[in-house]
Amino acid sequence: MQQPEIRIMTPGDLSAVMDIENNNHPYPWSKQIMSDCFKENYISYVYILDGEIIGYLVQTFAADESNILNVCVESRFRSNGFADQLMHKAINCCREMKNSSIFLEVRASNAPAINLYHKHGFVEVGVRKGYYPTEQGREDAIVMALEILALHP
Ligand SMILES: CC(C)(COP(=O)(O)OP(=O)(O)OC[C@H]1O[C@@H](n2cnc3c(N)ncnc32)[C@H](O)[C@@H]1OP(=O)(O)O)[C@@H](O)C(=O)NCCC(=O)NCCS
Repeated sequence: MQQPEIRIMTPGDLSAVMDIENNNHPYPWSKQIMSDCFKENYISYVYILDGEIIGYLVQTFAADESNILNVCVESRFRSNGFADQLMHKAINCCREMKNSSIFLEVRASNAPAINLYHKHGFVEVGVRKGYYPTEQGREDAIVMALEILALHP
């Protein structure tokens, strides 16, 4: 059993990350969109367990704000605190970069993710009506924010 590790995502991780993305999101990102993670202003992490990528988090930075665009843990590894650790890593990065706040959007029906974000101090700051596609039509996005400066006045 190796020590679990969170490290920066590299282009060599793309295939493993896309396998998880395709298996764990109802409307997965394309490989092209995931490749944006390696652009300037992005920092993305992979969670490595026993040498295998089992989750990841993607965030962008603009001015003194960050956006968390994607956090995902392979289904058989869920409920072990791995997303918690990825969120800690992302929030700590924003603190070190002296960001003022982090924003994200989440499907209104995605209770596990909404709970995860609440647990890390995010609050709801808006709604984008009909933002996401569903099999039935559209569903709202909840816009959430975490004030970093409130954590470190
Ligand atoms: C959301 C997701 C990343 C959580 O990953 P995870 O590793 O299972 O989460 P953790 O074990 O670290 O749990 C952290 C917190 O998330 C919340 N949570 C996680 N799974 C939950 C569930 N099934 N029901 C309710 N809350 C849940 C809880 O607040 C939990 O804290 P607690 O254990 O103290 O109650 C995972 O369900 C996932 O990958 N979903 C598919 C992709 C997705 O929807 N990503 C979010 C939008 S990009």
